[in-house]
Amino acid sequence: MAGRIPQSFINELVARTDVVDIIDRRVTLKKSGHNYTACCPFHNEKTPSFSVNPDKQFYYCFGCGASGNALTFLMEYEGQEFVAAIEDLAAQLGMEIPKEAYSEEPQRQHEYHDLFPLMESVSQYYQQQLKSHPNAEKAINYLKNRGLSGEIAKQYGIGFAPDEWQNLTTLKNQSENLQKDLIETGMMLKNEKGHTYDRFRDRIMFPIRNRRGQVLGFGGRVIDQGEPKYLNSPETSLFHKGKELYGIYEMRRQLRNIEHVIIVEGYMDVVALAQFEIYNATATLGTATTSDHLQTLFRLCKKIVFCFDGDKAGKAAALRALKHALPMVRDTREVRIMFLPDGEDPDSLVRKIGKDAFEERVESAITLFDYLINHLKFQVDMDTFEGPARMVHLAKPYFQEITDPVLSARFLSRLSQMAGLSEAQLNEVLQKDNANRTTPEKRQAEYRQPAETRADNPVSEKSSDNTNNNQSKNKIPFRRAISLLLQYPDAFPAANTSWLKSITEPGAIILYEMLELTRENEGMTTAMLIENWRGRPEEPHLNKLAITELHIKENNANSELCDIIKRLERTYVIDQCDTLINKSKKQPLSQEEKETLKRLLQASQNG
Ligand code: UTP
Ligand code: MN
Repeated sequence: MAGRIPQSFINELVARTDVVDIIDRRVTLKKSGHNYTACCPFHNEKTPSFSVNPDKQFYYCFGCGASGNALTFLMEYEGQEFVAAIEDLAAQLGMEIPKEAYSEEPQRQHEYHDLFPLMESVSQYYQQQLKSHPNAEKAINYLKNRGLSGEIAKQYGIGFAPDEWQNLTTLKNQSENLQKDLIETGMMLKNEKGHTYDRFRDRIMFPIRNRRGQVLGFGGRVIDQGEPKYLNSPETSLFHKGKELYGIYEMRRQLRNIEHVIIVEGYMDVVALAQFEIYNATATLGTATTSDHLQTLFRLCKKIVFCFDGDKAGKAAALRALKHALPMVRDTREVRIMFLPDGEDPDSLVRKIGKDAFEERVESAITLFDYLINHLKFQVDMDTFEGPARMVHLAKPYFQEITDPVLSARFLSRLSQMAGLSEAQLNEVLQKDNANRTTPEKRQAEYRQPAETRADNPVSEKSSDNTNNNQSKNKIPFRRAISLLLQYPDAFPAANTSWLKSITEPGAIILYEMLELTRENEGMTTAMLIENWRGRPEEPHLNKLAITELHIKENNANSELCDIIKRLERTYVIDQCDTLINKSKKQPLSQEEKETLKRLLQASQNG
């Protein structure tokens, strides 16, 4: 059955979970006043700035800004997917996860997808063919010639797609509409005549799995020579190249502690390294490394080593990776770049020099910033008058990508030494168009928002107030009301607030939805409220509002909230009146409009 986890169940789960308990089992918490504190598990620190609030059921780090509820903590700390974190919590509480049809609220993600069992049987089928198909011998020989053992092939689920057009229609799968599902997963194609046929034929098959081991797609290699060398699954509802990495599941199964991850280019590189007991390699799937990839990896460990060819293309790829990585490095996160000797890839190199020598090379890879500085110096002639000046300009786009304050300051001071400029002078040159600077947060927010709302987010403090209407004037009270309600969910006003629905400003819609939630659910916490926005564009902003210092006593939350809402309602009523009165000057109002106006005028006098 296709289904997703009902929001009501997630709410219940968060309600029944104690965030203090969840965190305390992993990071020792100390009571401090009303809250609990610890050294932050998400960045390196000596004095505790990580705080857990038992009332809000919310944690927050004053050092790095990490924040969230119990589910967020499990996802960030354990590197779990959303659904896996839910399954974990549910199992702990002995609750069974119900599923519902997922068509009702298509904008929410995280649905269970019933295509996974199909992909699993496809993968099993290919593995079976590698063992038993009459023509599998050449595939087996090919793999053997490349030094792979049966054990590693099994670990990575490597299989064989026989050279036929209709392999997959013979699958014994319960799928009601096998052919349609095979097309949806990209495993079969349809030609102009409407005939369907297998995408992968006569290839060695590498299943691409997500972190939980579910098969999302495949890479298929020709045996020996042929074009294209690798055929990959297309983007489907399951498979997104820019997000997935090859080999993560297998890595996590092999290693309890992942100290660092090596990013290589190819399927065969990952598998060959594993053959040499180097299990911590992963490959992007024929794309450059994206920020999403890096984010995934930084959830697994604190150190990433990129592995590139030593040639020109490799150097160019390194610079691209560098730009993606700069916004993500902190003083606690390490990124290094390793270049391979000419003509080698990790697969060929490890065979030549063995495990230890390979790992030594990984160990001594150059750090991101050392590489950047070398690169900048080599671009110019530092012995000329102009050289260092040019270098500063070359450095600018990189400098603007750095978000960590300590690294940024250190980079600035190093540049200043090299360029013979004071830091103040340098700052002037480098900061000029800082307004356009993108931060990962900003990028992420933009990425997650649907295009039509992208430019102007209601609850974001930095949203552009380009219009001068009442709506932007209202932004601040909306923001304050949302913060109050988020932090003191019991403080909801009793008054009817359905008029909020008629205000188009997104802040109004959030406030309306939040008021409904607090009224309908007793004992709502900050954590539970926030959970209802997970994965929605507003989530990061609400996370911020949940921890904004409000400078009030809890007892006063309700009266302030009532005041703000009353004021907002007044503005709304007056706006409506104005609109109708202006309209009446141009054309007669309908009976309905007249009555509305009368009602509004009364309301504005009473209020
Ligand atoms: P490589 O050509 O370096 O592949 O491409 P490889 O893994 O070393 O393969 P072998 O050793 O020749 O068997 C690196 C990656 O680029 C993508 C694949 O993801 C591959 O692993 N690629 C390459 C394609 O998607 N299609 C191609 O035709 C070639
Ligand atoms: Mn190779």
